[in-house]
Amino acid sequence: MAVLDLKYYGNPILRKVAKPVENIDGEIVKFAEDLIRTMQVNNGIGLAANQVGRDIRIYAVDPSVIDMSEEPFVLINPQIITTEGEQSGEEGCLSFPGLFETVARPERVIVEALGVNEKPVRIERDGLMARVLLHEYDHLEGKLFIDYFGLLKKQLVNKRLQKLKAGDLEVFR
Ligand code: NI
Repeated sequence: MAVLDLKYYGNPILRKVAKPVENIDGEIVKFAEDLIRTMQVNNGIGLAANQVGRDIRIYAVDPSVIDMSEEPFVLINPQIITTEGEQSGEEGCLSFPGLFETVARPERVIVEALGVNEKPVRIERDGLMARVLLHEYDHLEGKLFIDYFGLLKKQLVNKRLQKLKAGDLEVFR
């Protein structure tokens, strides 16, 4: 397993709409393992393929932060089937090191996808895991959590975002 390089805010791939995976071959299976490894090494609870430079519809999530008996897994070609309710909580993103802000999201989500074994999976989660599943799905659509910031919050962080864009990874730490 390899640890892949993270792509940070300012990298155009984070704004691309990712393409569906057409064939879950050995290369994709290996990539899925690398994505999980990269998420774990960086202490993330979710990581999307475009955050490591691939514009394909795969993301990794790690439910073990909530339930130790669960293992990290990847979702391929995920679809949001339904969302319900509302929650508000602190959110971060490995493409924005050190930036944490409160973001409103639906409380509950149902996602359908394929697993690495090509079998369909249906996942129903609430709370933090719903937040992660939706945050990562957004990445595949080229959407970032800063897009949910209100005008005031945007103005407060804008200068530092520009520095991050210019390559200063310490600006929010
Ligand atoms: Ni993110």
